[in-house]
Amino acid sequence: MIIQPRTRGFICLTSHPEGCAENVKKQIEYVKSKGQINNGPKKVLVIGASTGFGLASRISAAFGSDAATIGVFFEKPGTAGRPGTAGWYNTAAFETEATKAGLYAKSINGDAFSDEIKKQTIELIKQDLGQVDLVVYSLASPRRTHPKTGVAYASVLKPIGEHFTNKTVDFHTGVVTNISIDPVKEQSDIDNTIAVMGGEDWKFWIEDLKAAGVLADGVKTVAYSYIGPELTYPIYRNGTIGMAKNDLEATVATINDLLKDKNGVSYVSVNKALVTQSSSAIPVVPLYISLLYKVMKEKGIHEGCIEQMQRLFAERLYATDAQLDSEGRIRVDDLEMREDVQAEVAKLWAEVTTENIESISDLAGYRKDFFNLFGFEFEGIDYNQESDELTQVESIK
Ligand code: NAI
Ligand code: NA
Repeated sequence: MIIQPRTRGFICLTSHPEGCAENVKKQIEYVKSKGQINNGPKKVLVIGASTGFGLASRISAAFGSDAATIGVFFEKPGTAGRPGTAGWYNTAAFETEATKAGLYAKSINGDAFSDEIKKQTIELIKQDLGQVDLVVYSLASPRRTHPKTGVAYASVLKPIGEHFTNKTVDFHTGVVTNISIDPVKEQSDIDNTIAVMGGEDWKFWIEDLKAAGVLADGVKTVAYSYIGPELTYPIYRNGTIGMAKNDLEATVATINDLLKDKNGVSYVSVNKALVTQSSSAIPVVPLYISLLYKVMKEKGIHEGCIEQMQRLFAERLYATDAQLDSEGRIRVDDLEMREDVQAEVAKLWAEVTTENIESISDLAGYRKDFFNLFGFEFEGIDYNQESDELTQVESIK
């Protein structure tokens, strides 16, 4: 079928298989151009492997370190006349390229929060890899059904305590408005968000993997967090999602205890703000990202997911010094948080309006990245051609 983008707000309802493949190939080329990662991972499990930071982690491990990878995610294949999700097509392309390169790659599609998918993953590791030496935890989800209690939790994106008013942009139209968000009314909103995006499920994964004997000696595990500038604190770091990130970060100590007898180590890496399916859903953040892109591109220090993850692997996780901050976290948001960068973004933030946004921000770059997530707006792809919506992920039958 011919597949064009169809958007509803910050959601794109269609994805383009060949465009997603192009996206994956570009990321692979980037990783290869950086050369092999010294003492990198060899057998890797990526939970949340189909888009964003998780996909970039998988690509960095495979093409930067010849790693065998198992990817877990929640995506939909296409059916006749109806395209699947971008993460499905990304994975199809990833597996094709990995196989061509002689690299093991298999994938599991299902709810990573469930015991059943954990069990399936462990069986696959036992059958094909024996053990894994790196576990990347990169889930981003609005809901989680708790595997022990069956309770279904939904996260919320709200400030805590005070009403929050700030600028936001509709990135399709470039219209800048003030958005006003009420704080949470109930403690349960905070608790639910922690239940979805906090550290419990990461801990459950590591407990189960350990109990099954599939973690190699010296195993590493990493999960991703965000801090960002003060202007987004009320909606991010000091909001409900920030409480979940605090919980995720606190889980590092628990997991380090679990991994002690495996000589293993766990990390949280604080990553840069980037356009992904998850971040486009957060109010205020897309406007911040548009200004940030402008400033970082002008300074020649802009990075996308793949640049971030390649650097995380080569210069932090597998370097002699992971360069932890005072809270024990890896910081690949170091360039975003540079004082000169933040000062310029803050200045632009005060100035930005509907009238000047196209010139003082990189809204165009934001939009392009957004459409690229779904395989659109790649040069060299003819979007008027028939496209194969039935593209399969080789290892999932
Ligand atoms: P994303 O939306 O691109 O990726 C989410 C992944 O989780 C996908 O592979 C999806 O299939 C998978 N997933 C979601 N629910 C699932 C379920 N129930 N079972 C199995 N798989 C499921 O998100 P992104 O942005 O890459 O986020 C990954 C992590 O990075 C999150 O912890 C996020 O908070 C963090 N992060 C994101 C930043 C950003 O600006 N995008 C910045 C810093 C950290
Ligand atoms: Na991800």
